[in-house]
Amino acid sequence: MKNTGGSDGAKRRAGESAAALADDGMTVGLGTGSTAAHAIRALGRAVDAGLDVRGVPTSFASRELAREVGVPLVALDEVESVDLALDGADQIAGGDLIKGGGAAHAREKIVDAAAKRFVVVADPSKESDALDRPVPVEVLPAARTAVARAIEGAGGEPTLRSAERKDGPVVTDNGNLVLDCDFGRIDDPAALARTLSGTPGVVEHGLFVGLADEVHVGTDEGVTVRRFGGE
Ligand code: A5P
Repeated sequence: MKNTGGSDGAKRRAGESAAALADDGMTVGLGTGSTAAHAIRALGRAVDAGLDVRGVPTSFASRELAREVGVPLVALDEVESVDLALDGADQIAGGDLIKGGGAAHAREKIVDAAAKRFVVVADPSKESDALDRPVPVEVLPAARTAVARAIEGAGGEPTLRSAERKDGPVVTDNGNLVLDCDFGRIDDPAALARTLSGTPGVVEHGLFVGLADEVHVGTDEGVTVRRFGGE
């Protein structure tokens, strides 16, 4: 798993706070990353105590963890609706997010966008006045050169994400590659999201614009909840 900022205690408090929103009968989206993992573990403990939910994993990693902690699972293509999605983020500005630090943003976006209530879990290091981190863009392998050229044309600097402890690139759970695209400060995330979505060969990008309903930010003392009323 990648390294991210923030204390584990803050991440745990955020994850537990969001997991407490799960209720009997719900279908719950299970996000990816170290903060969402705390939510999945808390859900597992609640299931042990009698909560009746089923989880929709967003990655190989979230599926493995959910199995380990005993959250019953249902596959993404078998789900008609998602009641609650619990997911982390790499950067948060207002209600907009950059995700994909763990290369799971394509499935995450499907689940988070389908959820009636999408709750982001984070530590304070993720909050920012504006989005300015590189945007992860999942691309079909055969399209990586063409997409990289289009990204440069849109004012970005694409870098093919390299694997650690393996020679060569990161290959996503969907068999694709990731370009981390540095656009500097993103003043109009919605416009950039449209440009990226309209680029042939892009499978999905990590800009989540207007999707989040609330963010639970864990701190050393407790949890701050911000509500956005996602679209
Ligand atoms: C996975 O691809 C990402 O979208 C994660 O949700 C994001 O990187 C947050 O991860 P951490 O909670 O580990 O920072």
